[in-house]
Amino acid sequence: ADLAALNTFGLPGRAAHLAVIEHSEQLAALLARPDWGDAPSLVLGGGSNIVVDGDFPGWVLQVAIRGRELAGEDEDFRYVRAGGGENWHDFVRWTLAQGWGGLENLSLIPGTVGAAPIQNIGAYGLELEARFDHLEAVSLADGRARRFDAADCGFGYRDSVFKRGEAGRWLIASVTFRLPRRWRPVTHYADVAAELAARDIGVPTPLDVSDAVVAIRRRKLPDPAVLGNAGSFFKNPRVDDATLARLQAAHPGLPHYSQPGGGAKIAAGWLIDQCGWKGRDLGPVGCFERQALVLVNRGGANGADVRRAAEAIRADVAARFGVELEPEPVFVSARRE
Ligand code: EPU
Repeated sequence: ADLAALNTFGLPGRAAHLAVIEHSEQLAALLARPDWGDAPSLVLGGGSNIVVDGDFPGWVLQVAIRGRELAGEDEDFRYVRAGGGENWHDFVRWTLAQGWGGLENLSLIPGTVGAAPIQNIGAYGLELEARFDHLEAVSLADGRARRFDAADCGFGYRDSVFKRGEAGRWLIASVTFRLPRRWRPVTHYADVAAELAARDIGVPTPLDVSDAVVAIRRRKLPDPAVLGNAGSFFKNPRVDDATLARLQAAHPGLPHYSQPGGGAKIAAGWLIDQCGWKGRDLGPVGCFERQALVLVNRGGANGADVRRAAEAIRADVAARFGVELEPEPVFVSARRE
């Protein structure tokens, strides 16, 4: 199976086998097949957060489990469940159409519902973990179902156990969110506040916030349908207070966000921009002209081209600022453990 059309970066690669999973019970049957073997398997959602780096020798499982429903409510929350294969943004807009606020800051993030907890998607002042109740996953080892509550997921910044100890072991069949019945807008992020002000909206509804976020994202981020990319290519690095003070003394304009427990996250896009990379290409891989944190496929790029460009950027930022950038998307290759 050709993976190029299954990843938003448009990187080439072939998978030995592909299965489309519409019901979680299908997985057990697949595991029982003689050709399942012990080749690695890769669970694929929208393919919007991966770097395909060559051919993949095992099974690619494309999650197409559908369904959206109100699963319950209590005094404080509505519990809303969606199948792992549902498109994330369509799901967010559906909740808003029901009149249920809570996910609006995460509008227009590419990918699927099932992939969202893996990297604890976040944007504009909200991370998924703030609205997460639990998920149902199926083991790739034995096909058994398991429930993961928030504490089991080990959420961090663009991180969860599904990127660490449990990586590659589970197919996320559904996710249940808890949406607050007493909704309050999350508008402390400067871009969101400015966009609402520009629209003369004083007291926003959930839909107003969603529309503002959509507008901001359309302005800053490339549409993967037009220009291949995987969103932010690096995480915003976390530095300790001493490092922050050293950097600020030399670079007073450094955008940073203080973290609970000390230290700060600093804007990787700004660091890359300062190194002169914004709008620059290395081979077929470009550093996007409106957001330096996003690498784009100008046409014909492969995984090695992406690694080369990422390494050049990492090296420049390390030399100039003494800060190490870490890739955010997951690399998929035969070399993966
Ligand atoms: N900046 C520059 N030059 C650039 C890019 C950014 O100077 O080329 C500066 C901006 O002016 C701003 C700061 O850096 O002061 C931060 O930029 P921005 O607000 O665009 O957000 P970001 O920190 O670069 C993060 C997330 C995005 C998310 C936005 C909004 C990460 C790795 N990225 O980007 O998430 O949409 O905040 O909340 O945390 C993703 O994860 O794929 C993603 C797109």
